[in-house]
Amino acid sequence: MIGTANGLAVSITGLGSHVPDRVVTNDELSTMMETSDEWIVERTGIRERRIAAPEEALSDLALPAARQALEDAGISGSDLDLIIVATVTPDMAFPATAAILADELGAHDAGAYDLSAGCTGFMYAVAQAYGMLAGGLAQRALVVGGDVLSKILDWSDRGTAVLFGDGAGAVVLERVGQGGFLGFELGADGSGGLQLYLPAGGSRAPATAESVAERRHFVQMNGREVFKFATRVLVASAEAVLAECGRTIEDVDVYVPHQANVRIIEYATQKLGIPDDRVVIDVDRYGNTSSGSIPLALADAKADGRLAAGRLVLMTGMGAGLTWGSGLIEWTDGGRT
Ligand code: COA
Repeated sequence: MIGTANGLAVSITGLGSHVPDRVVTNDELSTMMETSDEWIVERTGIRERRIAAPEEALSDLALPAARQALEDAGISGSDLDLIIVATVTPDMAFPATAAILADELGAHDAGAYDLSAGCTGFMYAVAQAYGMLAGGLAQRALVVGGDVLSKILDWSDRGTAVLFGDGAGAVVLERVGQGGFLGFELGADGSGGLQLYLPAGGSRAPATAESVAERRHFVQMNGREVFKFATRVLVASAEAVLAECGRTIEDVDVYVPHQANVRIIEYATQKLGIPDDRVVIDVDRYGNTSSGSIPLALADAKADGRLAAGRLVLMTGMGAGLTWGSGLIEWTDGGRT
């Protein structure tokens, strides 16, 4: 799916993020499995990640991020018409974590649901919220991207456990006078689904004593295949959305790629020809936070003063599905209509 934003102007008017307190360094991981700080830094660029406490669920990370985003936008929960939570680690399979959030935020008039598109979830959710706002179905939307992947990782599998971390980010979308989203490109290739998946716990393989014993409720990944896929789609999706919107890579002021691995980001950055100082990287501090990755990186870019009004921001996510998605936005500083 690809298209330019021809409807009403819609932008991000509020931004928030939240990560668990507990920092887990590579050295700490080295005490739990056969790995080393040197290997992890060289192959991934990750130095540490945040890991949720045993009692912490997705909504516990999403709620503070959402509250911050609402405050940043200067609105309250009761102003929301729509809440989408992009995640593969909801509090429970159902009810949706978005409905739990709606209740906690006092968003009594909002439609609220979760969306599953792996690490691309945030981009899918933003595109969907954009469509509802631009089409006039909603006035104000809250989009949360967040995951607590530590809960579904096999902590004896060094091939996956070292890569991920927990965190959530949230954005408020509203109509604005001008600027805002220019276009989106979203895609999925289900034939690659088993390269990155959670084998059991769904209707294909419900939970049994055997499935637990066989550790089939944990993430399984073919790292090399996902690496090849990631480098390919980060470049292709970014180029596609830029071309569709009549922009070039030179126009991009801030590039926010999915934070999976510094090597993947560097490959994409070089191929696309984006100067390093325009690229947002925080995977060294958070690891891959799945749906939380892009909004956390946006929050970091904002804290650094990089998201000034008028700047062109390119975001590209990719992940389980296999899925990918890009969005191009001319940043606005509030300015809702
Ligand atoms: N610590 C130490 N050694 C490790 C290790 C770890 N955490 N994980 C794997 N190794 C070992 C392997 O067993 C292998 O050893 P061998 O040569 O004796 O068999 C060696 O390191 C090289 O493994 P390889 O898989 O070729 O490494 P790589 O350079 O491809 O890096 C990933 C592995 C997982 C970091 C890389 O493939 C990757 O980032 N893939 C994409 C993953 C991703 O981003 N997923 C989420 C997408 S949303």
